[in-house]
Formats: sequence, structure tokens, C-alpha cells
Amino acid sequence: PWSANLRRDKGELVLAGHALSDLADAGTPVYLVDEEDMKARARAWVDAMGDGDVYYAGKSFLTPAVASWMLEAGLCIDTASEGELRIALAGGVPGNRIGLHGNSKSDATLRLALEAGIGRIVVDSPGEVDQIAALAAELGTVAPCFVRVTTGVHAGGHEFIATAHEDQKFGLSLATGAAMDVVAAITASPHLEFLGLHSHIGSQILDAEGFAAAARAVMAFAGELSSRGISVPEVDLGGGYGIQYTGLDPKPLSEKDMIAGIRSAIEASCQEAGIPAPRLSIEPGRSISGPAGMTLYRVGATKDVMTDDGVRRYVSVDGGMSDNVRPALYGADYTALLGRDSEAELVPTRVVGMHCESGDIVVKDVALPADVTRGDLILVAATGAYGRSMASNYNMVRRPGVLAVSDTGTAWLVKPETWEDVLGLFPDL
Ligand code: LLP
Repeated sequence: PWSANLRRDKGELVLAGHALSDLADAGTPVYLVDEEDMKARARAWVDAMGDGDVYYAGKSFLTPAVASWMLEAGLCIDTASEGELRIALAGGVPGNRIGLHGNSKSDATLRLALEAGIGRIVVDSPGEVDQIAALAAELGTVAPCFVRVTTGVHAGGHEFIATAHEDQKFGLSLATGAAMDVVAAITASPHLEFLGLHSHIGSQILDAEGFAAAARAVMAFAGELSSRGISVPEVDLGGGYGIQYTGLDPKPLSEKDMIAGIRSAIEASCQEAGIPAPRLSIEPGRSISGPAGMTLYRVGATKDVMTDDGVRRYVSVDGGMSDNVRPALYGADYTALLGRDSEAELVPTRVVGMHCESGDIVVKDVALPADVTRGDLILVAATGAYGRSMASNYNMVRRPGVLAVSDTGTAWLVKPETWEDVLGLFPDL
């Protein structure tokens, strides 16, 4: 689960030539991004895709610099809010290389998107058709629209992140005809252009089967549309490509094998339906930002607690659910390493945060050297996706900064919050 440029050298962990003990001088907790690793993961998707577009899912972790890295690597940006859209634009990404999602888009957000010349707006509910058409008419433009469909394919892990079954908030049902009605309304409007169909089936999916099943459902619908004289130029199969969080997690399929699996399902379905294969796009987030990111914490305290199976070492660090809510929210597993080398025996350890709830777990089960002590550094793997982007100020902590680390130096992608930032939110008394 560790990024490509992490090593042990001279008694401690070293990221792209920078000793962790030096990186910790910037203050802890701090998120670290292995810059070359993240860029390489982005390029791997572009190479695997060949003819077709890769939209980096900004929700997993987006800053103006990250947006510009993705643009340079040949990706587009998938945004799911006005904030993400603004950050992509601030990173110099042209509007036509940005997609906009959302199940509750405001007029202001849509107006900004249309004014920026957005590449695609993914329509998620029937009322949006009139909303977008009215705004496009007002701005004298034609809005490029995708339609998000609910395929009924249930893939991925936690219920909160599975998104294509019928009884949830996203997408338009193929089964009830809602998707058909919305596509028809879009093609009937002079202010809207129908560009394609979108499906997102869930997250942390490790093989191509779920995507292939979704692709078959989408292509069957494209066949129906074709018989009504509506062609589907492009199909976007969303994100959700899984990663290893711990050494025990199975390895996900390579980018190339994943795309090959999806493409062959699309081609077979198109042959069956007698329609040409559409252009393909995807929206990976976690598989680009996740393994490239890590969190560096400092140990504040340790204690041994009696359990039914013996003793468990609790190691308390200076962050927790405010910088990584995923263990508390999804029961997500992570793994950790001690920053310095140690000869001590490994003991069953739980790394916990500094917040005032017992569910504030950083790493549930990990074997760490028995001599871990206050002041030590602990590095947690694969926190680059949905770590900083879902961080909070719970217990009035300052959200940590994100430091890009490469052979050529270090640079803040996100500055660490200061006490002035936190206290500045409150009106003076
Ligand atoms: N496209 C759409 C329409 C999505 O809803 C998502 C994720 C993605 C792409 C990117 O998925 P990825 O490749 O990053 O898995 N916060 C949760 C996951 C919820 C993600 C929601 N949408 C987590 O921490 O696992």
C-alpha cells in the first residue's frame, strides 16, 4: 500500500530523499504526497485508456496545483460542487476539460459552469432539464449534457458508497423510464445537447466485472435510444477503482486490464444491439490520489489495555478522525509504520486519535515495535484520497497541510491551518 518513493535509509523512513524526521519539522500531523507517484498513477490511466478521456475525480483530493498536474498528464477534471469547479479553474484547467456532477446543483453553480464553457454537465434529476435549459438560454449558449443512469448494479464495499441500486439518491432509473424521459427532453431542447450516458456503481471495486455489468446495462439502454433515433456518442463509467489500504488487501486489476475488461463488455453489447461503440470515459479519484498520499503523526501517549485475547497496545497520536474520518465512517482499515528503525519485537497495536470519542481510530490493528513511545513518528499509508478532502475541525483542531514531496524539493499543496484561521471564523466579541 506504500507509495513508490518510500524507503528506509540511515535508520528511518525516507520519502523521495527526504527523511521523515525533517519533514515533521513542518509540524504534525501533516499529509505527505509522493508527487511523482501520483503523477505516474494519473499517466497510467491515460496510457491504458488510449482513445477516450480520463476525468480525475477531484472530490478525492483537489488543489489548483493538483488540477494542473492532472491537466499536464493529459486528464480532465471531474467536479462535484462549485468549490471543486472553482479550484479546477484556478489550476488553469480549461472549462471544456471539466465535468460537473451533483444531485442538487444551484443556479449560481450552473451559471459559473456554463460561463466557463464546461465540457459536460451530468444531469441527475428530471427538474434539472428545465433548470439548465433556462440558464443556457439566458446566457445564449447550448449546455452539453450527460445523463446519469441507475443501472441496478451493486458493487463495492460500504452501503454509503454503493451508488447504483434503485433506492438511493443518485441517477435516473432505467427500470422506470425516468432516464428515457430525461434523454428525450434533452434532445428536444434547443438549449441542450445530449452527449452521452453516465454510470457510477460504487467505490473500492477491485475487478472489471461490476463495470462490465454496468456497461452492458448502459449499452442495452443505448440500443433502445438508437431505435428511437437518438445516438449515444459517449459513455462514462464513473470512478470507484479500488486500491490496497493494507498489505492484506487484494491487489486491484491493473489500469490496462481494467480498461480492456470494460471495453470488451461494451463492444460485445454494441454488437448485440447493432450500434457503433461509443467513446469511453472514466472518473478515477482514489486510485490516483490514494496510494500517493500518507499521513505523518507524532505519538503523544501509549498505554497497554487488557483485552479478552491478552494485551493490546494503544498508541495515541496528534490527529485522528478530523484528518481521516474513513475508519469512523466506513470502518476502513489502514496500516502504519514507525518512522525510525527499531529492533524491538512487534506487538499488536491500535493507533488511535486525540479526539474525544472511542471510535476515533486511525489504524485498528497493526504490529508495531514494542518500544514505540511519546515523540515517535508514525506514518499511515494510502490516506491521499478522502483524507484532507473530508477533514474537519472537530474538537477545534487545525486541519493539517498537505506537503508535496519530490526529489527536487517540497511544496505545500494545502497550507496548514493556523490558529488565526480557526479563530478568524468567529466574530469579535
Ligand atoms: N465519479 C463519481 C460520480 C463519484 O461519485 C465518485 C465517488 C467518483 C467518480 C470517484 O470515485 P473513486 O475513484 O475515488 O472511488 N468518500 C468515500 C467515497 C465516496 C465517493 C463518492 N463518489 C470514501 O472515502 O471512500
